[in-house]
Amino acid sequence: MSDTVTIIDNRTGKQYELPISYGTYPHYGASIEALALRKIKVDDDDFGLLSYDPGFTNTAACSSTITFLDGERGILRYRGYPIEELAANNSFLDVAYLLSKGELPDPAASESWADQICHHRMLHEQIKKFMDGFHHTAHPMGILVGTVAALSTFYPEVKEVRDAETRTLEIFRLIAKMPTLAAFAYRHSQGLPYAYPDDDLSYVGNFLSMMFKMTEQKYRPDPVLERVLDVIFTLHADHEQNCSTSSVRSVGSSLADPFVAVAAGCAALYGPLHGGANEQVLRMLREIGSKKKIPEYIERVKEGEVRLMGFGHRVYKNYDPRARILKELAPEVFSVTGSNPLLDIALELERIALEDDYFVDRHLYPNVDFYSGIIYQAMGFPVAMFPVLFAIPRTSGWLSQWQEMLEDEEFRISRPRQVYTGEDQRKKNALAAA
Ligand code: ACO
Repeated sequence: MSDTVTIIDNRTGKQYELPISYGTYPHYGASIEALALRKIKVDDDDFGLLSYDPGFTNTAACSSTITFLDGERGILRYRGYPIEELAANNSFLDVAYLLSKGELPDPAASESWADQICHHRMLHEQIKKFMDGFHHTAHPMGILVGTVAALSTFYPEVKEVRDAETRTLEIFRLIAKMPTLAAFAYRHSQGLPYAYPDDDLSYVGNFLSMMFKMTEQKYRPDPVLERVLDVIFTLHADHEQNCSTSSVRSVGSSLADPFVAVAAGCAALYGPLHGGANEQVLRMLREIGSKKKIPEYIERVKEGEVRLMGFGHRVYKNYDPRARILKELAPEVFSVTGSNPLLDIALELERIALEDDYFVDRHLYPNVDFYSGIIYQAMGFPVAMFPVLFAIPRTSGWLSQWQEMLEDEEFRISRPRQVYTGEDQRKKNALAAA
């Protein structure tokens, strides 16, 4: 057996042998180089074969050592550690360190990493001015996209993306400042004064303080909610080459700075098919309103009138492991916040859908967004903040991927091909001919 694939071009009868490369697992990620297809030509004038893949359903755009995801088996690992283990045993900031550096930190490294991030949490006072320029009805995710991009203008050295030391500094800044921007965006929309970072609190505890602190001297986050949100941040920290991550890589591949690359990631995450889905799940559950209306809604989904939001995934064709962890965490949250009737509707909807052939045949299972919205709502986050809550932890994954891309010896600017199906050159048009 040889590690090659043979292709016969029936137009010419010619035979081509293309080498197969492997990643860590021989049965997952075997690939041929797309450029090898270009040798397959009818004649010398022929450009050669392209692979055609709208939506990149079967195209590997890079090799990566960060996240492994096997959607058929419902496996998600960061740097080799199962997501279940990390969620149970490690803080989000240690997971961010793992994603960035490849290893979990020892206690000293963990402390110094957390200190650096703590140190960079403040925003330049000018940022409040352009934050104030947004209308009070502005969606906080729109504010986040704009303000994170604008941060790029505050740090002239940010253009030095080839310099490893500068990259590390920008990684600290971005992981540190995203929660501050997010909380400021929320408080602006509520007409509340901005709450500054509190150095005594953890990464998540401080975020909760900047969000919800009112007139009290010191905000004390509920320890259960603080821990659950920390776990949720871990679950959202990375997810290999999804829409937002590939946007960050794509923008970063032009050597644009990481602030604008992260802004592109936020923009991609804003869409309802990606980070906006949990917002849609909540709207859907409210629209359904009661358990008895579920069968009627399922029929509408099957008719193709609406989608069951929070169900289905491009990669997971088995249960999303993050959804399982969130489903288990939900009762802990409700033990603190009181019950949420939408959870009962969600559980029943999941039960009915998972017994229905329409969903079973299409391998449609709950994804991470199915339960996250209900949990966020119970914690007091308004719906518009849901995609923002996704963007905060995902920043660590985006930046790890961005850093990996810049250090990759195969690095090139992102530039997909197309198959042109428009007009051939036309006759001179009437105006030009006159
Ligand atoms: N409800 C009903 N039917 C669905 C759903 C859904 N949520 N998702 C997919 N399908 C059906 C499609 O209609 C299609 O059926 P068909 O073969 O009869 O035409 C089939 O399943 C395949 O669907 P695609 O759209 O081809 O799947 P794709 O991989 O392109 O889409 C996506 C994945 C966008 C996530 C899709 O499942 C979806 O729209 N889900 C709802 C939105 C959502 O929850 N997004 C969050 C994803 S997780 C994240 O981004 C963090």
